[in-house]
Amino acid sequence: MSKNKNNQAIWKERISKDTSLIFKKFGSSLNVDKRLFKEDIMGSIVHVEMLFKQKIIPFKIKNKIIWGLNKIQNEIVKKKFIFNNDHEDIHMSIEKRLFEIIGKDAGFIHTGRSRNDQVITDFKLWLRKSTKKIIKNLESTIKIILQNAEKNVETVMPGFTHLKNAQPISFAHYMLAYVEMFQRDKKRFIYNLENLMENPLGVGALSGTSFNIDREYTTKKLGFNYPTKNSIDTVSDRDFVVDFLYAVSLTAVHISRLAEEFIVWNSDGFKLITLKDKIVTGSSIMPQKKNPDPLEFLRGKTGNAFGNLFSMLTILKGLPVSYFKDLQDDKDLVFKSYDQLKNSLIILNEILKNFAVNKKRMLELANDGYITATDLADHIVKELKYPFREAYKVTAKIVNYAEKKNKRLDELTMNELKKIESRLKENVLNVFDLKNAIRSKKSYGGTSFMNIQKMIKKYKKEIK
Ligand code: ARG
Repeated sequence: MSKNKNNQAIWKERISKDTSLIFKKFGSSLNVDKRLFKEDIMGSIVHVEMLFKQKIIPFKIKNKIIWGLNKIQNEIVKKKFIFNNDHEDIHMSIEKRLFEIIGKDAGFIHTGRSRNDQVITDFKLWLRKSTKKIIKNLESTIKIILQNAEKNVETVMPGFTHLKNAQPISFAHYMLAYVEMFQRDKKRFIYNLENLMENPLGVGALSGTSFNIDREYTTKKLGFNYPTKNSIDTVSDRDFVVDFLYAVSLTAVHISRLAEEFIVWNSDGFKLITLKDKIVTGSSIMPQKKNPDPLEFLRGKTGNAFGNLFSMLTILKGLPVSYFKDLQDDKDLVFKSYDQLKNSLIILNEILKNFAVNKKRMLELANDGYITATDLADHIVKELKYPFREAYKVTAKIVNYAEKKNKRLDELTMNELKKIESRLKENVLNVFDLKNAIRSKKSYGGTSFMNIQKMIKKYKKEIK
């Protein structure tokens, strides 16, 4: 593209002076929104097809414009297109290039359209495509978690509350908790897809257009479900951006919580899992180190997702309805959040495929901390018909005794137990077996091995 008249702003007849260089530089979004080029060209082609169908532009001009747009798409794909930062954004760049290729007839392209509806159309098309990609990525994460769960149904570990041993659980049950989280994330993205199915094209700058356009036609051709219903709201609305950024943020929270837990479990204090060499890094001074950097990276990056969400909310909070330049930043925020989440999910998948479960150590730790105390209390309720609060007191006495004697609950003799609660019978000893404790949690959603098997089956059917 030569430095000629075509570099001049479209509004040069009205605004005689060139925009200050500093503002041109500051205000150009081209480097960011050039990612929308395919959607922009697609939207423009459908727009001119509709203009022709409605007899607003002649057949020849429609064909010329579409030919030019296809040529531009080809140039961009083949990296032959020169992105000139004198042009404010991707929409202006493409329009300017169209003038270079087909001449004055390019001027028909913007009939009955504004950049305000154009940009939201492009953006929604892009978000639709990208949301579907995120959903696919979430599904592959869920599948990998399910594979981990399947291999660990009978792997006993301590379940924690306050990071203190609470009740024994299956490691698979823990993993399946994250399936639930990622399924909810998926639902949030799917919910937003519904908002993304409303077609903004045709609302013009803010009030609609006097041309006899056919919005149903562009809706169908661009794969939307229905046209938006209020032109002012349409050019102002960025709820679908906030919803997307929120869905990304909460997914990032779930990834971060998993990362934090894995960091703790991989630590020398816990040693419940071991990260394989592929997903650790060394230290520049301490030769023995294998650090969980990728997990820390996932945890740390979460803040960026929140930042993008809060930036968008802040942009919107004091903005009167209709279009304002403040809105231009929406794309930068979304692209950053999208890229980060996509990478995070790929990294997470890699981690989930490259760690070992230290079953022996899990069992050892699960035997610590009087972890079957609740099971003992439940046993006393069932066998001796005590109210739970009474059973709780008896159990606490037994735990205190064991602690004083430096014994685990399963190391206490029948005699010792009977000294505290004479009515206890031999069958109490079964309660201290960790697998029995897990098996007994048969309530729906509980950790019993049977429940877990059923849940894995159910998830696998859902995901396929
Ligand atoms: N680059 C602009 C954006 O992304 C396009 C819309 C421009 N509209 C306008 N009235 N200046 O928001």
